[in-house]
Amino acid sequence: MKTIGVYTSGGDAPGMNACIRSVVRTAIYHGFKVKGIQRGYAGMISGDIINLSRNSVANIIQRGGTFLKTARSEEFRTKEGRAEAYEQILKHEIDALVCIGGDGSYTGAGLFYEEFGIPCVGIPGTIDNDLFGTDYTIGYDTAVNTALDAIDRIRDTAHSHERVFIVEVMGRDAGFIALDVAIAGGAEAALIPEDLNDMEGLTQQFSRRDKRKKSFSIVVVAEGDEQGGALVLEKKLHELFPELKIRSTILGHVQRGGSPSARDRVLASRLGAAAIDALLAGETAICVGIVNNDVSYTPFAEAIGSHKSISPQMIELAKILAI
Ligand code: F6P
Repeated sequence: MKTIGVYTSGGDAPGMNACIRSVVRTAIYHGFKVKGIQRGYAGMISGDIINLSRNSVANIIQRGGTFLKTARSEEFRTKEGRAEAYEQILKHEIDALVCIGGDGSYTGAGLFYEEFGIPCVGIPGTIDNDLFGTDYTIGYDTAVNTALDAIDRIRDTAHSHERVFIVEVMGRDAGFIALDVAIAGGAEAALIPEDLNDMEGLTQQFSRRDKRKKSFSIVVVAEGDEQGGALVLEKKLHELFPELKIRSTILGHVQRGGSPSARDRVLASRLGAAAIDALLAGETAICVGIVNNDVSYTPFAEAIGSHKSISPQMIELAKILAI
C-alpha cells in the first residue's frame, strides 16, 4: 500500500475539511502518498483526481463545506459506473480509499471493496448524527449550534408578538438535531420520527396554555417527522387551535454551512487519523467512530444495517423541562 485516495461524499458537513487535513497529514507522516478524489463517486468515475501534499490542506481547518467538493452519484449505484471508477483507481495507482460521508457513501465503498478488493475505511461525516458506530458524526455539533443561534433569535420575536413558532430543522430520518436543539433552546416540544406520541403530547400541552400562562412557544420539528414538517404541522395546529398566532421557519441548508465548532474540528482530526491507523492495521470495509471517547471500528455491513437510537431519557427530559 503506497497511495491512499480520500474523498467526501453525500451531503457536506462542517468539519469535513478538518478531516481531509487530518487524513492527508497522518498518511504523509506514515510515508504514504495521498490523492484527493473530487466530487465523491462522481469524480472517481470521471477521474477527477488530484495530488495532495501537506500544504494542499493548509488553512482549511476553519472552513465549512469540503474543498474536495461532494456529490450524490447515481452512476456509482450501477455496476458499470463502479467498473469505470475502478479503471480510474488503477490509472491513478490508488491502493486504498478513505471515504468521508454517510451510510449511502459507506454502501458504495463496501460494494466497491467486494467487487474490486480496494481496501476502504469510512469516516462518519453528516450533520444528522444518524450513523451507527459513533457517538457523534462530523458536522453535528456545528449544525446544532447554528440551529440554536437561529432559535434564540426567533424566540425574541415569538416573545414580543406572543406567537407560536414552529422551527423545522434538518434530519432526514432522525431527530438528533431536533431533540438537542429543543432542549438547548428551551422549546415547548420536539417532534421527531423516533417519538410517535409527540403530536399527542403537544396537543395536550397546547390545550393547557391558559392554565400554564404561556404567551409564546417554540416547537421544533425534524424534517423527517411523520407529521410532515413545519408547514403541514402549522396547518394542523391552526385547525386545532384557531386562536393561536402561528408562524413557521424552515432552517434548511443554513445548518450545513459555516465554520466548524472546536468540537467538530477535534472530532474530525481524531477520526481522520484513526482511519489511517485502521488501514495500517490491515482493516478494511469498516468505519471508524468515537464511542465513549475511544476510537472504535464497525464493519460497514453492521453500520449500514443498524439503527442508531435516540436516548429515551433525552426524550423524557425535553418533556419534563417543557411543563
Ligand atoms: O443528510 C444530511 C442532510 O442535510 C439531511 O438532513 C437532509 O435531509 C439532506 O441532507 C438534504 O440533502 P440535499 O442537500 O441533497 O438536498
